[in-house]
Amino acid sequence: MAHLFTPYTLGDVTLRNRIAVSPMCQYMAQDGVVNDWHHVHLGTLARGGAGLVVVEASAVSPEGRITPGDVGIWRDDQAEALAPIARAIAEAGAVPGIQIAHAGRKASANRPWEGDDHMPESDPRAWQPIAPSAVAFGANLPRQPRAMSVAEIERVRQDFVAAAIRAREAGFRWLMLHFAHGYLAQSFFSPFANQRTDAYGGSAENRARFLVETLRAVRAVWPENLPLSIRLGVTEFAGDDEAMLAEALAMLRVMKTEGLGFVDVSIGFDTPTAQIPWGPGFLGAIAGQVRRETGLPTATSWNAASAPQLADAMVRQGEVDLVMVGRPLLADPHWPYAAAKALGHEDAASVLPPPYAHWLARYR
Ligand code: FNR
Repeated sequence: MAHLFTPYTLGDVTLRNRIAVSPMCQYMAQDGVVNDWHHVHLGTLARGGAGLVVVEASAVSPEGRITPGDVGIWRDDQAEALAPIARAIAEAGAVPGIQIAHAGRKASANRPWEGDDHMPESDPRAWQPIAPSAVAFGANLPRQPRAMSVAEIERVRQDFVAAAIRAREAGFRWLMLHFAHGYLAQSFFSPFANQRTDAYGGSAENRARFLVETLRAVRAVWPENLPLSIRLGVTEFAGDDEAMLAEALAMLRVMKTEGLGFVDVSIGFDTPTAQIPWGPGFLGAIAGQVRRETGLPTATSWNAASAPQLADAMVRQGEVDLVMVGRPLLADPHWPYAAAKALGHEDAASVLPPPYAHWLARYR
């Protein structure tokens, strides 16, 4: 059997296979509340056969949205609107997960297809982004953020905790903290963004403080038996990658002792100067290194599923436990079925629900 289609258990959660729907912002929410778009989108992906479906980056506070269309989880009514989605994912046989996030200095932007840049300050929909230091990302995101006070750092940490509780109450069983992609947590970790001189900046240990404290605080409210994961950029492709990876490995070892259960290995995206070597499965070896050197189970994305054989090999070779699949699922929400066929699964149609599988298996 293809390794991609073996079940995976972490804590009390068992996934039917190693395919995970990577969190993908739709920028279609109103006031942070999900609607029919999200129901159909996520229900379809769950029916497509993945083992885990991770709902898009959901903001823990209003200023933590990337765009005005982001999903939010800072109010109870937002979580209540997410609950039927968690239920639909579970009913389709996948495990419902959610990513909770704060966009930091990349907040207050236009939708990707409407510019992908910071909204002008004069735009009535814009707001003041916050970050570890008053240092702009640059390029398409030039707006200078306001440096956070320690009280504000504590407030955002508590926003993550409150969001985790709401996610739990809404029925999600896999939590992912968004500590990647140049958003708030990643930018605390990165010297590109963090120039603080207090306990939250300077040494690697200090730059890790916000992430470790947030993880610890969330762990205290997230059920012991359910997976608590992070997505973390462990490399930047902007020089000094070895030092960054070493710092990330050290932080992950600390987080493991604090109850971190799983790491989704990604890119820092902290600087527009990065030279990323896009290519099939280019993060696989790094994910494997993280897995070996921390003992944490891993996943990765970024062209990891550009071919089913590649995704399968990553699992087989012990680089990752799960493959996060993004764009291939936008192209074909039934990608797991296509992958099963490509990998010679003995009953490929069984990856899909019976109302589809019956007909696909019957008339060939
Ligand atoms: C993304 N990505 C992303 N990542 C994340 O951590 N949280 C998010 O909400 C989003 N949103 C998002 C939206 C859309 C439309 C895309 C295409 C991507 C990144 C995504 O999860 C994944 O890591 C990348 O797409 C790379 O995987 P693929 O597409 O090469 O399989």
